[in-house]
Amino acid sequence: MAVQADPNPDPEPGQRLRLRRLLPPGEPATVAQTVEQLGLWERHPGATEHQRVLLNMVSTVDGRATLGGHSAPLSGRADRELFHGLRSAADAILVGAGTVRMERYGRIIKDESVRRLRRERGLSEEPLACIVSGRLALEADIPLLADPQARVVIVTASAASLPATGAAVEYVRAERDGRLDLPAALAELRSRFGLEMLLCEGGPHLSLQLFAAGLIDELFLSLSPRLAGGEAASGEALRILAGPELEPPRSLRLLGALECESALFLRYGVSDGVSAARPSGRAGGGGVRDDASV
Ligand SMILES: NC(=O)c1ccc[n+]([C@@H]2O[C@H](COP(=O)([O-])OP(=O)(O)OC[C@H]3O[C@@H](n4cnc5c(N)ncnc54)[C@H](OP(=O)(O)O)[C@@H]3O)[C@@H](O)[C@H]2O)c1
Repeated sequence: MAVQADPNPDPEPGQRLRLRRLLPPGEPATVAQTVEQLGLWERHPGATEHQRVLLNMVSTVDGRATLGGHSAPLSGRADRELFHGLRSAADAILVGAGTVRMERYGRIIKDESVRRLRRERGLSEEPLACIVSGRLALEADIPLLADPQARVVIVTASAASLPATGAAVEYVRAERDGRLDLPAALAELRSRFGLEMLLCEGGPHLSLQLFAAGLIDELFLSLSPRLAGGEAASGEALRILAGPELEPPRSLRLLGALECESALFLRYGVSDGVSAARPSGRAGGGGVRDDASV
C-alpha cells in the first residue's frame, strides 16, 4: 500500500504552520497569510454603520467549550496560532469577566514583532482590552490588570469602579433598565475609542447575549478533533453559547474552511443578524464580507 504524504508535516523549528484551504480550495496558507486574505487589517472608518464584530471560539466535535474548566486543552498549535493571528489585527478584544478570571488574562500581544507590525499598519501597539462585567469582581493580580503597560476598558452598567490597578482602566457605562445595554456599549466603544474591528473571545455567556442582540457579524469556530462527553446541564460541560435559548435560532452561512492536524477552522457569516437591536440599526448584520474567505 502506498504511503500517503502527510498533508500537515511537522514544521521545522521556527517555521510557521500551514493550513489546508478547503473552502475555497487553494494553496496551503500560514496564519499570517490567512489574516491578510480575510482583510482583517483593512479599515474603512465610517463606511458602515457599525464596527465589524468577530467572535472566535473553540469547541470539541461533541460541543464542549471547556475541559477541566479551561479552553486551552481543546487547542492545538494551529488554533493557538490562529487565536493570536486574529488578535494581531483587531482594534480591541471584547471578553467576559468570567473568562478573564478563569483564564487569568495577561498582555494581549506579547510578541514585539507583532506590536511593530501593528504600528507599521497604523494600529495601536496592542488591541484595547474591553472586559464586560456587572459585579466588577476582578482581582488586581490578574496579569492584565496588574500590567502597567496595559490599557483596559471595563464595560458595565454599574457606577462602581475597580480598586487601583497597575493597568490604565477606563469605563464604558451603558445602562438600560438596570442592565447592561450591549448595543449602546459597542456604539460608545466605536465613537469614543475609534474601534472599527472588535474581536470577541467569549465566554459562552457573553457570546450568547451578543448573538441575541444581533451584534456578531462573523463566527470563527475551531473544531478541536476531540470527544469529551459530559452532562450538558452541568456547568462543567459548557458549550460555546450559554444562557437562554436563542429564539429564533440564528442561521449561519459557511464562508470558509481550513484544516490542520485534523482540526477544522470554520468561518461563518451571521446572515440573519437582528441588527435592529443596535442603535440606529441596519438590517442585515453589518460587515459580513463574502469576498474574503478563511
Ligand atoms: N471554548 C472557548 O472558545 C471559550 C472561550 C472563552 C471562554 N471559555 C471558557 O468559558 C468559561 C467562562 O464562561 P462564562 O460564560 O462564565 O464567562 P464569560 O461570558 O466570559 O463571563 C461571564 C461574566 O461576564 C460578565 N457579563 C456577561 N454578560 C454581562 C452583562 N450583560 N452585564 C454585565 N456583566 C456581564 C459577568 O461578569 P461579573 O461576574 O464580573 O459581573 C459574568 O459573570 C471559562 O471556563 C473559559 O475557559 C471558552
